[in-house]
Amino acid sequence: VEQTSIPTEHDATRWWTEHYDGAAVQIVEFLAGDGYSIEGKEVADIGSGDGIIDLGVWNHGRPSRLVGYDVRPTDMDALIRSAAAAGIEDGLPDGHAFTFVKSEPDHLPSLDERFDVVYTWSVFEHVSQPVVMLREVRRIIKPDGLFFLQIWPLFGSRHGGHAWMAIDEPFAHLSRSPFELERDLIGRQGTDPTRSADDEFRSLNRLTLDQLQRALLLARLRIAKIELTAETIHIPPELAHQPLVDMAVSGVKLLAAPF
Ligand SMILES: C[S@@+](CC[C@H](N)C(=O)[O-])C[C@H]1O[C@@H](n2cnc3c(N)ncnc32)[C@H](O)[C@@H]1O
Repeated sequence: VEQTSIPTEHDATRWWTEHYDGAAVQIVEFLAGDGYSIEGKEVADIGSGDGIIDLGVWNHGRPSRLVGYDVRPTDMDALIRSAAAAGIEDGLPDGHAFTFVKSEPDHLPSLDERFDVVYTWSVFEHVSQPVVMLREVRRIIKPDGLFFLQIWPLFGSRHGGHAWMAIDEPFAHLSRSPFELERDLIGRQGTDPTRSADDEFRSLNRLTLDQLQRALLLARLRIAKIELTAETIHIPPELAHQPLVDMAVSGVKLLAAPF
């Protein structure tokens, strides 16, 4: 999640707000900023996680159908419980319009050209085969549809190792040796509450911004709009030769169109 102060422990209320309001509203508004309303549209999420963002998109954007795909099944009952704890009793979708479906790392179980909008939040830095999954995204989007993608933090940036719960040191994932890093991460809390820090670190594909653009183009998705998050950073001496853009640009939100 995009933020300026990094939380050092998990807090359910903060987590809910950052996803249900923060992320979901940013997705809806990034599209609306280009005159694109998802009201009444069919939308899909890639990497739905706990589904909180999807419930937020459902209530803030009012699509007619929403499918959340994830390689680890999303728990609808747990989502309903956390919604109730957050005071959301109404607005819980019923029927088949709001569903979660288990997907494969290289396959989305959907017909071709099925969705008006596909979105993904804090997922593509973890996807093991980004081009393969982007081709799947391209396959299920309608020809006049749109793809929204967000990544934060990008791997080369100061928190790109997703390790801040375990190591309070910017760029630790680039400055420390792999052995030292692994030792410090094992058994520690990840930023994803369901994962340990070492498991989360190993899941990162290390995409740079330029590699992300090339992966999108290989999947026949062209970037139509992009917003970057840049940070003021202190560069450790041992990283003086690292590409500046990779270190200073920590996040990306973009809209891509099929071609
Ligand atoms: C950091 S979590 C983000 C979840 C949610 N979008 C959020 O922001 O709360 C990353 C999610 O991506 C999922 N994931 C990783 N690779 C995937 C793939 N190839 N296809 C679908 N989901 C994937 C993981 O299982 C995990 O739930």
